[in-house]
Amino acid sequence: MATLSSPLVAAPVVSSIPAVPGLPLLGNLIAFRRDRLALQDAAARRGPIARISFGHIPLYIVTCGDLAHEVLVAQAASFQKSAGIQFLRPLLGDGLLTAEGELHRQHRKLLAPAFAPRRLASYGEVMVAETREQIARWSPGDRIDLAGEMMQMTLAIAGRTLFGVDVRRDASTVAHAIEIGMRAMDKAITSPLQLGYEWPLPRHLRMRRSVRMLDDVVFRLIAEGRALGTDRGDVLSMLLVARDEDDGTQLTDRQVRDEVMTLLLAGHETTANTLTWTWYELGRNPSALARLEAEVQRVLGTRTVATADLPELPWTAAVIDEAMRLHPPAYMIGRDALREVELGGHRLPARSIVAVNIRGIHRRPDYYPAPLAFRPERMLPDAKKARPRHHYLPFGAGPRVCIGSHFAVMEAQLALATMVQQTRLRLLRSHAVAEPLVTLRPRDGMPAIVERC
Ligand code: HEM
Repeated sequence: MATLSSPLVAAPVVSSIPAVPGLPLLGNLIAFRRDRLALQDAAARRGPIARISFGHIPLYIVTCGDLAHEVLVAQAASFQKSAGIQFLRPLLGDGLLTAEGELHRQHRKLLAPAFAPRRLASYGEVMVAETREQIARWSPGDRIDLAGEMMQMTLAIAGRTLFGVDVRRDASTVAHAIEIGMRAMDKAITSPLQLGYEWPLPRHLRMRRSVRMLDDVVFRLIAEGRALGTDRGDVLSMLLVARDEDDGTQLTDRQVRDEVMTLLLAGHETTANTLTWTWYELGRNPSALARLEAEVQRVLGTRTVATADLPELPWTAAVIDEAMRLHPPAYMIGRDALREVELGGHRLPARSIVAVNIRGIHRRPDYYPAPLAFRPERMLPDAKKARPRHHYLPFGAGPRVCIGSHFAVMEAQLALATMVQQTRLRLLRSHAVAEPLVTLRPRDGMPAIVERC
């Protein structure tokens, strides 16, 4: 599909795109603040591309694999990250998630070795050890909040693989600061008054405090890493010694801080939510759980799982993939058009905001019959191969695809196999409501009883 600089293209203008009805002046802003998933669903019902508006600003919601491919891959050069991501900048600086253009390309190249297969394999042992450590804190009969437990566990894993240190000692500070930061950011993004963080609003002050707390921890770790001066196998020490191939420059402390903060934030909450939703679905689907237990028992028995076992655990992988289909942590991906573009036969002017509705795409009945049913068999290798790739996009696609996708999948599989082997959990909630913050998480946690460990 071409961009619209060519006069030969005669696509209709945006007014022909179906709109979700809203209020005079405010458009769909109130509906968005009240229940943005319902608004996304309403947009999805209107077609592959639908229009909503925040006041006078239109937003185009794309709920179609082919059009998602256009935005994220084929026409990626005509888009940049949406302005909404700027709200993450105080926390993430110019890290990979927020950087654009040449800076993004350079940093992606610098970070890539940290996520290369050989390096990833070395993280596997840490992932299993931290899962066991988490389980060791439970006793039969305990009532736990599985969502919080998974958050602590993935934070500990991120800490050791990223920093090479045990952040459990800092876990509550870090988790608390991230939580405050995310909520403040979410408020800022959805506020009708878009004021910069320099305005001393309570939520901005909370945000600044949370950034200060996180900076204290991260800069301390950078100083410790610089003092050691060698690559110890973790991402931080790798970044501290990495040099640009072309000009030999090294990253400054500030740049390392931004990358580490980005990986910490992007890399722990998402995987924690994936594991929590996976257990939620397993709780509601006992036959899927029984098949999972049987697979883990047959392949591993009581042996500790290792990365090399993962190809032998296809049902374990399929269970996680199916949970991410129904509950994709990154439920929406935003972009701004840098120039006029054509999308689905419509012409969108430069600066249009486009949101790829990942959750809506994953729930389309024509892509996934009985879309709300949890059926891991749809994610077994042959079924996956038969499906167009862009019908399943939990990690996005194109030049901004998740750099940590293999890390995340490996972590979730190793953690799930270990938990299945060592514990039995009874989920206390058969109907959880999703809370869409920066990621999609269950509202009010996920209470569970530990039946065996
Ligand atoms: C289940 C877990 C995860 C999910 C669902 C997920 C999802 C995503 C998605 C959808 C994007 C693309 C956003 C966009 O195009 O605007 C992304 C980007 C990114 N993710 Fe993940 N992610 C996960 C885990 C991780 C992990 C474990 C790490 C690192 C340790 C990570 C680091 C990043 C980074 C740095 C980016 C920005 C990449 C770039 O722009 O070049 N993610 N993630």
